[in-house]
Amino acid sequence: MSPVSPALLGGPAAFPAGLPLVRPTIPDVPALTRRLQAVLESGLLTNGPAVRELEERVASRCHIDNVVAVANCTAGLMLVYQALGVDGRVVMPSFTFSASAHAVAWSGGTPAWAEVDGQTLTLDPGDAATLSDGAQAISATHVYGAPCDVGALQRLAEGLGVPLVFDAAHALGSSSGGRPVGGFGTAEVFSLSPTKVAVAGEGGLVTTRDEGLAQAVRLGRDYGNPGSYDCEFAGLNARMSELHATIALASLDGLDERIAWRNQLVAGFKQTASGVPGLRYQQIREGDLSTYKDLTLIVEPGAFGLTTDQLAAALLAEGIDSRHYYRPPIHRQKAYAHLAQDRPLPVTDRLAARVLTVPLWSHLTEREVRTVADAVVRIQQNARRVADALVAADGS
Ligand SMILES: Cc1ncc(COP(=O)(O)O)c(C=O)c1O
Repeated sequence: MSPVSPALLGGPAAFPAGLPLVRPTIPDVPALTRRLQAVLESGLLTNGPAVRELEERVASRCHIDNVVAVANCTAGLMLVYQALGVDGRVVMPSFTFSASAHAVAWSGGTPAWAEVDGQTLTLDPGDAATLSDGAQAISATHVYGAPCDVGALQRLAEGLGVPLVFDAAHALGSSSGGRPVGGFGTAEVFSLSPTKVAVAGEGGLVTTRDEGLAQAVRLGRDYGNPGSYDCEFAGLNARMSELHATIALASLDGLDERIAWRNQLVAGFKQTASGVPGLRYQQIREGDLSTYKDLTLIVEPGAFGLTTDQLAAALLAEGIDSRHYYRPPIHRQKAYAHLAQDRPLPVTDRLAARVLTVPLWSHLTEREVRTVADAVVRIQQNARRVADALVAADGS
């Protein structure tokens, strides 16, 4: 039992100056600043060599011929669904970020919610199969960077003869069975937004083996304009600027080392918090590598003694930020209330009520991460008093 009281009960806060959930890691800012200056001085702020270089570097690291840089992952997903002509049912998880579904909705499609696996938190291929009647596509998310069961999903999609789109927003640098994420399914779409392990400020990358699909996305990111201003379809302006591509290129430097470090940090957290009742983690499949874009705790309130809301409040008193990724799950969000939910999603609902994501950045020290874990241990050891204090504060 820790001799120190949780901050909520009067002990010293673990991080008096606060510990935010995420901070992007930008290696060598002075060198990047010089590269950005060169872009600014070139007068070529878009449609230039940095975007092409980024596409080539990602193609080479993902062992794939076609990479199209876009303004963000959401737009990339929208352009993929548009190019695939998806305007009907898309089997997809509800336990993912809202943009996975918004892209389907913007293209005129309708999500058909499937369960995730309760251990890996990625789309359950068996449950997805039960929804496959009339499906036009399957979408799956490499949640927090953990690769989906890509083999089973590819077999399912091939059997149905429908495209398989991976929302790979979290997973640039992940691999499954030794093969880099980016090479699976019909297309994969990465995000380079500031909460990711590789960042551009804002940005996305579409990867695909399908040359025609790549061409359509390339055209689609540029209004659908082939250069003649005689647009072939209603596209978007979803280009990535040269400035963003330059940041992304710098962010690719050291990406594998940062991912290895994040895995080590997670191992340190788990070691410090080992034996805490009611606390478990997402399972990463044997042979797979996760970016650990997020470190998410799965808290069983009965055994742990606190709900995730109570744990979040106690962590906040320690100065530690956290988020309920993903609560509410998408099928419970207002934006999708119009969709008839004719089948329950007990695994998704259960998980959504039990997840709490805690800070993990690539330049955190192992000591800092273990300090977060220590705070979780301390809070759990004093769960009854913490719960009482929160109830009392609520009533005052
Ligand atoms: C799973 C998932 N999909 C899509 C997105 C959207 O990415 P972007 O912000 O690049 O559009 C995010 C953003 O965090 C995400 O977490």
